[in-house]
Amino acid sequence: MDKDLLIVANWKSNKTNREAFSWLTFFNENKDKINFKNKEIVLCPSFTSLSICRSFIKDNNLPISLGAQDLSEFSGGPYTGEVSASQVKELCSYVLIGHSERKRYFSETQDKIKRKVSQAEENNLDAILCVQNENDFIVDAKFIAYEPPFAISTFGVGRPDAPEHVEKVFSALANKTGAKLLYGGSLALDNIGQYSKIKSLRGFLLGGVSLDPREFINLLLKC
Ligand code: PGA
Repeated sequence: MDKDLLIVANWKSNKTNREAFSWLTFFNENKDKINFKNKEIVLCPSFTSLSICRSFIKDNNLPISLGAQDLSEFSGGPYTGEVSASQVKELCSYVLIGHSERKRYFSETQDKIKRKVSQAEENNLDAILCVQNENDFIVDAKFIAYEPPFAISTFGVGRPDAPEHVEKVFSALANKTGAKLLYGGSLALDNIGQYSKIKSLRGFLLGGVSLDPREFINLLLKC
């Protein structure tokens, strides 16, 4: 691919700090193979590993950015268990908002999503808003990741959407938003190349394939 891409690795609720450290160690030892000029890599570990990842990235001068997988709809205060946007901002430049798993398991509503995107904006975090189809709820965000639930590897059939259909959804989304468009869902080594023909594609959101650093690096070599 000959354009700038945002490659987002969503580790979801996986990896202890020790596992995160060993992923980063492997990545660092093998980074010379990767062309970082045409892509920005955003790692989204759990909140508990953000700090250790940040230190590793800094100490090793790794060209990787960090993202959070969620943030609080509130600006901080008495909200037990929540992580506010200003806290996220201390460690990250990006944040995922409205992922399908949050909608399915954590009652993420449109109102909550709207408030979360505002929190991100107010704190200069780049929001990556996840949508399930072209008619899904959209607010202005820097990035929109189209991830049909059937394509998410841990849901339903876990089969990637056809590039032709992704292109149609992107055209419909482009009529409603100026956001940069990403695709996610069951991406793997043997299918990621097919999406390079989509002109408006500006990146990928990866789940399962990002957990193993070898697989992730091999995939980056194809982008
Ligand atoms: P998957 O997940 O790559 O494992 O399908 C993508 C996602 O849920 O963001």
